[in-house]
Formats: sequence, structure tokens, C-alpha cells
Amino acid sequence: METYGCQMNKADSASIRGLLIERGFTDAEDITKADVVIINTCVVREHAENRVYARLGYFRHIKERINPALKVVLTGCLTRFNRAKLEEEYEIDLIADVYSQAELADCIANDSYATQSLYRTTNYKFKPSELDPDNPIRAYVSITHGCDNWCSYCIVPAVRGTMISRPADDIIDEVKRLCDLGVKEITLLGQNVNSYGTDIGGMKFVDLLERIDKTTSGQWIRFMTSHPKDFSKTLADAVIDLQSLCGHVHLPLQSGSNRILSLMGRSYSREDYLEKIGYLRSRKPDFPLSTDIIVGFADETDAEYEETASMLRTIRFEDAYLYHYSERKGSRAAEKGLPCDEATGRERLAKIIALQRSLSADSLSQCIGTTMSVLIESKARDGGMIGRSRENRMVVVPEGKIGDIVTVTAKEIKGHTLIA
Ligand code: SAH
Ligand code: SF4
Ligand code: F3S
Repeated sequence: METYGCQMNKADSASIRGLLIERGFTDAEDITKADVVIINTCVVREHAENRVYARLGYFRHIKERINPALKVVLTGCLTRFNRAKLEEEYEIDLIADVYSQAELADCIANDSYATQSLYRTTNYKFKPSELDPDNPIRAYVSITHGCDNWCSYCIVPAVRGTMISRPADDIIDEVKRLCDLGVKEITLLGQNVNSYGTDIGGMKFVDLLERIDKTTSGQWIRFMTSHPKDFSKTLADAVIDLQSLCGHVHLPLQSGSNRILSLMGRSYSREDYLEKIGYLRSRKPDFPLSTDIIVGFADETDAEYEETASMLRTIRFEDAYLYHYSERKGSRAAEKGLPCDEATGRERLAKIIALQRSLSADSLSQCIGTTMSVLIESKARDGGMIGRSRENRMVVVPEGKIGDIVTVTAKEIKGHTLIA
């Protein structure tokens, strides 16, 4: 099983793996002896899409030369993006969209590849979370599927469909089940978790967090991703006041220029964003934040790029996922014919990566001498144990068991990791 893309895809892959294990399958150690390879795909940027085509080429080679019995199964976001190309140019034994996981598993189990493609149009079914056997103390729980925001650069609403919220009782049962299994950290997943419940009425995201907080006893709760337009004061208060919630928020800014934000269809301004961060930090100075940024969107000017860079300097994100704009066929920006100048995008990306690197190093160095709680995840490479703090920082601690929460003081930095 190969997985590309975001955490939702990783969670989907875990479900598919679980469905296949229930049907008697095991992980293959070597592709040359495997019966089936499942590729769970991403198309958010051209680079991600091209990687899948390269892998399909590689598996064609394996099939022709080494393992003729190998079946190639494709799922994920590419299945709804460029279906014609997939069906015409590649020999894929089964194509199943993100809605058809159970059918995919049944087809593989019954060795029935003749149907070729499985596309369901509605009715997404949320599945129980599968624990990663290598890291069973941490779990992901999907609370929404799909997205209705249609940010103009983004293909996700087109390939994942409209937003569907999972019923709250179902989420609570899932959280209870995972706590009983000994899970120590649960991340709630959705493309825009703040919109939770708007499609089914009733419970809002903050209410859900309050219910989850009452359900847990000592476990840590994280969530992603938040959209700044819906990041309310009530949500900021909940993040700070609810005992189970970790003190870190990922809040994608995308751009620091109001003209570009408006072209992106993000529904907030630079000033709105600063006000929201201001409130969080008025309650908790140095509140740790991370973000996503796209540079070179449409006809972004040098001055507009500088406005984004200045936001990074002002806000001092601990971490940022930085991209240059990649045009996606089917997105609103592509339909409107907004320009995409990848060469300029690449230049600006190199500059902003260098800037963020030094800002990240600066903010990490502020942590030296401070005390933090760390959930131990695994053995560290050069001795000791490694895990993440509540603030989402990687920390090496001298000792402890996987799953322990330990309180330590950071003494030094190695790369992006704190050493306690
Ligand atoms: N739902 C989440 C994540 C969406 S994809 C959110 O709203 O934040 C993750 C990130 O990929 C986005 O935040 C954005 O920064 C980036 N991205 C999306 N489409 C892109 C595109 N066409 N080109 C470059 N980056 C893109
Ligand atoms: Fe894409 Fe915007 Fe939805 Fe995120 S909120 S998935 S960026 S459309
Ligand atoms: Fe990629 Fe689909 Fe996630 S396009 S980023 S895997 S929702």
C-alpha cells in the first residue's frame, strides 16, 4: 500500500488496510512477491499528481518483467481528477474513488477485477479508526469529509466532494473506544474542522470539543485543519481553556496580501487574521502556531509577496508548509483563467523557505530553559526517547516508555528537535 497526500489519505489507507486484514490479507514485504499494490493518490499540486504517474510506470515495469500476477489498484483523489487519462493510458486493474473503500476491499478479496472502476456518488461512510501498528498511542478521527469552501486555487472540493459531518454521537463513541484501547493522543481530522456540523444542524465544532473534553481522561486532543474565517473567539477560548486540547493551532494564512486573499476566495483579510492571532496571544503570549502559505498565486507582485513575508516575521509561526502555486484543472482559478507563473513562484518559494527556516530556529531557541510535557512516541536515533510536546514540538527526552507523558526542560536544539 502506498499513500500520498494529506492526513485524510493516510486515515483512508489505514481503513482500507484494516478492511483487507479482516478479509485475511497481510502486508507484503516485497513488491516482487505481492498479489496487489494499492496506490492512494493526491492531486493537490501537479508534483503530487506526477509522482503517481511515475509510480504507475514503475508498477507496469514490475508487472511486465518481474511479477505478472501483480494487480494494480488505484484510489484517492486522482480517481476523480483525471479519470480518462487513467483509463486510457495505464493498465490499472481496479479504480475505486474515496467513497468506495468497502467495495474495493470486496473486489480484491473476491479476485474480481473485471468491473474496473468503482465510483459512488453519495453517502460517505465514516469508518472506525485503525491504529498504526508502529505507533498505536496516536489515532486520527475523521469528523468531516469533503469541503465546500472552494478556495479558488484548490482542487480538493472537486475531488473529495461536498462537506459531510460525522454524527457527534458516532465521534464520541469512537473517542471512547480509542481511549479504552490506550490511545494517548487523538487528532480530529477534516478539511475545515471549524465548519463541523453546519450541514447537519445542531452541534457546532466548539460544542463537539466540549463533549470530547468531557469524554477523555488525560488524553491529548488536536485538530486540523482550521480555516481562519471560522476561527472564532469562542474557539480560541476553548483551545486555551479545555484541559484535553493541546496548545497549538495550525491556521493556514495562504497569503498576507488582501488582494491575493480576495482572489483566492479566502473570506478574511490580513487584518482579520492578525486580530484572531492577537486574541489568542492576548490570552496566552507566544501561543504556538503553524500555517500554510502559497506564493506566486495568479499575478502576485513582488510587493504582495513581501506582505506575506512580513506576516511571517510579525506572527512568528513555529512552522510553515510553504508552496508555490500550482494550477489545477477544475479549480475556480483555472476556470477563470487566472495566470500561473511557476518560475516566479519557485523563486519566491526559495526566498520564503530561507526566511521561515531562520524564524523557526529563532522560535525554537526561545524554548530553551522552558518546561514542557512530552508524549513519548518512539526510541530516538542517537539514544533516549523521542516524542512531541503539547505545543507540537519534537523533543528528545533521556528516558521513559512509549506512551508515557513526561515533564522535561529543554536544554539545547539539534536541527528541528529540542533536546531535554
Ligand atoms: N483543507 C486544508 C488543507 C488543504 S490542502 C486547508 O484548508 O488548509 C493543504 C495546503 O495545500 C493548502 O493549505 C494550501 O496551502 C496548499 N494548496 C492547495 N492547493 C494548492 C495549489 N493549487 N497550489 C499550491 N498549493 C496548494
Ligand atoms: Fe481547499 Fe480551501 Fe477547502 Fe482547504 S478550505 S480544502 S484550501 S478549498
Ligand atoms: Fe491531496 Fe486529496 Fe488530501 S488532493 S491533499 S490527498 S484531500
